[in-house]
Amino acid sequence: MRLLLVGAPGSGKGTQGQALAALYGIEHLSSGEVLRTEVRAGTPLGQEVAAYQRRGDLVPDQIVFDLLIPAVAAATARGGYILDGFPRTLPQALEAADVARRLDLTLNAAIYLNVPETILLQRLLSRARPDDTAEVIKHRLEVFTQTTSPLIAYYRQRGILLELDGEQSPEAITAEIQARLTDR
Ligand code: AP5
Ligand code: MG
Repeated sequence: MRLLLVGAPGSGKGTQGQALAALYGIEHLSSGEVLRTEVRAGTPLGQEVAAYQRRGDLVPDQIVFDLLIPAVAAATARGGYILDGFPRTLPQALEAADVARRLDLTLNAAIYLNVPETILLQRLLSRARPDDTAEVIKHRLEVFTQTTSPLIAYYRQRGILLELDGEQSPEAITAEIQARLTDR
């Protein structure tokens, strides 16, 4: 099983990624976590990544590819994955689709967690990661609208988009995803 979670900051990608990984016995790969691990390692690359994350700006595509593609390849070898937060730009999606097509490993579904901005703001302000300040959250939401949301139309056009009401309880969302994947 190869799945992708698309959604704004705070939409529940991490929460659903963990639940679906447990449900299907596949790996949960969060691009934000992979990047934060590099930051914690304190490497020069990690310091560069930290500056983008602190501001809520996207990390340049090439850095993301260099860190994510090996992780995706390793997960593939272990039976599948649920990608959380990667791809999140159209160039990333096109590049990832190209790699996947060559390996005959295209996505089964792209799951879009749709949550209104007022709810996203409440969730993130009560969580308090270093990039969860009001100002940085506002910027992350703008980046989502401008740069990531075109992916929704892209995956809809490919016929693999599953759009969900992300305001339901986490358990209800997981159950709905499972039911809709079974129905397809
Ligand atoms: P990333 O780590 O991906 O952060 P994000 O997209 O801003 O999303 P979050 O992790 O904040 O939210 P989430 O959707 O995972 O929700 P969660 O389950 O935690 O990216 C961080 C940064 O890394 C970016 O700004 C960028 O700099 C960089 N980056 C990452 N990927 C990149 C890429 N591909 N290219 C370039 N740069 C990249 O839930 C949030 C809260 O809500 C939690 O408290 C949770 O308990 C709660 N919650 C979850 N679901 C529900 C529910 N159904 N009901 C009520 N509460 C809920
Ligand atoms: Mg997350």
